[in-house]
Amino acid sequence: MQRTFVAIKPDAVQRGLIGEIIQKFEKKGFKIIGLKLLQLDRKTAEKHYEEHVGKPFFENLVNFITSGPIVAMVLEGVDAVNAVRKLMGATNPVNADVGTIRADYAHTMERNVVHGSDSPESAEREIAIFFDEPELVPGWKRDLDERFIGA
Ligand code: RTP
Ligand code: MG
Repeated sequence: MQRTFVAIKPDAVQRGLIGEIIQKFEKKGFKIIGLKLLQLDRKTAEKHYEEHVGKPFFENLVNFITSGPIVAMVLEGVDAVNAVRKLMGATNPVNADVGTIRADYAHTMERNVVHGSDSPESAEREIAIFFDEPELVPGWKRDLDERFIGA
């Protein structure tokens, strides 16, 4: 079992897609163990995207991610980091596989509706930026666990 960090970006929140996107993760079988709506300040956004500092798109990226509310989530599941990235699709929605969230809902790389951690290390780092440990509910038992993962 692994944790990953997911954010529904400001474009998707503005477009009223919070429910549909969360539903995709729920239906796939990921367990939500943390969830909140917030608007990022610049400092936190720069910390979240620190790997991209200095790149040509960095300023636009920070402007965009701070432009409105986002929904921050921690999901738990089998191989969650990779599985969530697969479900999200490629960074550029033009290249995203049919049926992925970015293929279905996004049109350009700059407005690609969701974020997902790219490694278990990134996931732990990003979860700590957005959530204090007491805000997470890691131990809750879901009645459907037997059906989803046989455990
Ligand atoms: P994210 O971090 O948002 O989940 O996206 P990602 O891993 O698929 O892509 P990443 O390389 O981490 O890039 C972060 C976000 O920056 C924007 N971007 N623009 N114009 C460009 O060349 C470019 N490259 C990246 C995208 O919005 C991407 O989601
Ligand atoms: Mg990334």
